Amino acid sequence: MVSLGVLVSGSGSNLQAIIDNIEAGRLDAQIKIVISNVPGVYALERARKHGLPTMVINHKEFKTREEFDQKLVEVLKEHGVELVILAGFMRLVTPVLLRAFPMRIMNIHPALLPAFPGTHVWQAEIDYGVKFAGCTVHFVDEGTDTGPIIIQAVVPVYDDDTAETLNARILKQEHKIYSRAIQLFAEGRLEIKGRRVLTRGVPRMEDTFLINPPLGREDKS
Ligand code: GRF
Repeated sequence: MVSLGVLVSGSGSNLQAIIDNIEAGRLDAQIKIVISNVPGVYALERARKHGLPTMVINHKEFKTREEFDQKLVEVLKEHGVELVILAGFMRLVTPVLLRAFPMRIMNIHPALLPAFPGTHVWQAEIDYGVKFAGCTVHFVDEGTDTGPIIIQAVVPVYDDDTAETLNARILKQEHKIYSRAIQLFAEGRLEIKGRRVLTRGVPRMEDTFLINPPLGREDKS
């Protein structure tokens, strides 16, 4: 059983998926504290509905990013947090938090890293013309969306997609892979080697492939 601290800034749909998986007995974790840097966000209400402790630590009340992170560290440690989950947390973290939880901070990003780091990725993917998009759970390092990759999910991009439809398709997969990454961590199956995260005991997918647009008659043998 791994003790989580979940950091949020917004709607908290990823938080909700994690809560639901814990309550359904599919995820061996407990949420010790949910912290938002923005007051009044829906993620806090979701947490309260499930009886989870919440706290607002407003970054605007701190002079520097480091002081804000120091406060986060204090609260996370006080609550016995082992693994920090960034779930739609819209702040860049500093070495203060990274040093306190080395390779113990996970983030979810709505793109197939290292492609499309940063924000507003869905329109960028459509404009670029990629045929697949997806999401990535990774350990957080000092860069933006650069840390070792734990798990990824792939979705097709269609000609009539908008940023909204693509976001919705990706978000559905985010809700699956974040819990999976946490469960693999909880089971001690993740081994970090440099920037690679190796996963013990997972089946191979030799014959699994995705092609978009799909193959036609002429390609099938
Ligand atoms: C998701 O798109 C996630 O990938 C990104 O922020 C969004 C969070 O959504 N990091 P939610 O707050 O979990 O609903």
